[in-house]
Amino acid sequence: EQPTKADIGVVGMAVMGSNLARNLAHHGYTVAVYNRSGDKTRALVEDHGSEGSFLASETPEEFVASLRAPRSIILMVKAGAPTDATIGTLLPLLSPGDIIMDGGNAYFRDTIRREREISAKGFHFVGAGISGGEHGALTGPAIMPGGTPESYRIIGPMLETISAHYEGEPCCAWMGPDGAGHFVKMIHNGIEYSDMQVIGEAYQLLRGAGLSNAQCADVFARWNTGDLSSYLIEITAEVLRAKDPRTGRDLVEIIKDRARMKGTGTWTVQTALELGVPANGIAEAVFARAESSHDELRAAGRAALQGPDGAVRVDDREAFIEDVHRALWCSKVVSYSQGFDEIRTGGREFGWDIDVAEAARIWRDGCIIRAALLERIRREYTADPGLVSLMCASSVAPEMAANQDAWRRVVATAAESGVPAPVFSATLAYYDMARAPRVNAALTQAQRDFFGSHTYERVDDEGHFHIEWTADR
Ligand code: ATR
Repeated sequence: EQPTKADIGVVGMAVMGSNLARNLAHHGYTVAVYNRSGDKTRALVEDHGSEGSFLASETPEEFVASLRAPRSIILMVKAGAPTDATIGTLLPLLSPGDIIMDGGNAYFRDTIRREREISAKGFHFVGAGISGGEHGALTGPAIMPGGTPESYRIIGPMLETISAHYEGEPCCAWMGPDGAGHFVKMIHNGIEYSDMQVIGEAYQLLRGAGLSNAQCADVFARWNTGDLSSYLIEITAEVLRAKDPRTGRDLVEIIKDRARMKGTGTWTVQTALELGVPANGIAEAVFARAESSHDELRAAGRAALQGPDGAVRVDDREAFIEDVHRALWCSKVVSYSQGFDEIRTGGREFGWDIDVAEAARIWRDGCIIRAALLERIRREYTADPGLVSLMCASSVAPEMAANQDAWRRVVATAAESGVPAPVFSATLAYYDMARAPRVNAALTQAQRDFFGSHTYERVDDEGHFHIEWTADR
């Protein structure tokens, strides 16, 4: 017997939306489904209708009427104008207390704006980051909701049920008011960029040292059993083993050497710049994608610029592989340190008071950056919620100290060999800058006072000072 009302609704039946609807249905919820064009809704019901209880609608009116009050509606439509258009269609049909959740990759400032506008009309708006790709949406993603605590009381239990679980704990938690959820998801993606880039740098170094793709795959598979264990390392091994169905060659050699992006990495860096958070590893990863896709620059550079050819001369291959392993671990820790610094700083700046340990907790499974390291990060931030930087944590700093020689050798080898390693190098510079008694900022400040009378501060006195640097300027 068909239930008359649905527990929850999903709008947008592209891959992410339909997989999320199926996930909800698999967990026993009756799911109302709607898409602007009806073909996608019909396809879902035809292909997967037997998997659970779906109420399919052809119109927004029918869709809203099919939901139990207070209504919970998840939007899985294209980010930007389509999201606003869909909200505009739904709002006149809703009743006070109903919840619209945007599960797309919205920019957190858009979410803040939408929350303000929609809550003023008496509805709840929840901006929720969802990570895990298509497969995660179906089998259990990590979910990062924002919005009001009241809305989380209603929609939270359903989200926790369909999320991934790490040792029985849901990978879903309320991150804070309005844009906090999409903000945390944005940082997740920023970290993902640097994780991916530094894996790429390690791969290129190993290739430069003469390893085949298959040998690199074995190295990554081995690393996946230790402290680097993570989804991205795991799939890297699989990617490197894949063959092109057309030519039989290693597929990675057939794929064009230019990385695309959709914007969350760029937002992470733009926001870091606005907040004054030095997220240079993440920034280098975003710039690396940009440079990889800058065809004109690369063509001009190949024609004009001289340097070593990227071959890495090593005496002891196993020792070099172990160095790269250690460097990768250090750079990864720094990338996460920068991402978590941005969460902490942004959380304060935007008044969200985000629990950093909670973000680490819900990233332990389901999401793209799931990694063994995250349980450790969760423990560190639980023990010390005021932790300034992950890399300085009591259990982490000694490991950085033990691995830094290898890290330096890898950066030096990359530079000597002409293997671009922007994240390896930038994160090492960040590490050295953080620990240096003095960096070169005094000189910068003196120059600023010299040419612009911007004043300087003294180590032996309070206040702002200025001198006439030369008599005859
Ligand atoms: P994918 O890349 O997987 O296709 P997407 O582009 O993020 O996913 O989202 C596509 C979804 O947004 C579709 O459900 C699409 O509806 P249609 O199937 O009718 O095209 C929806 N969408 C896009 N623009 C929209 C708009 N202006 N109003 C309503 N829905 C829109």
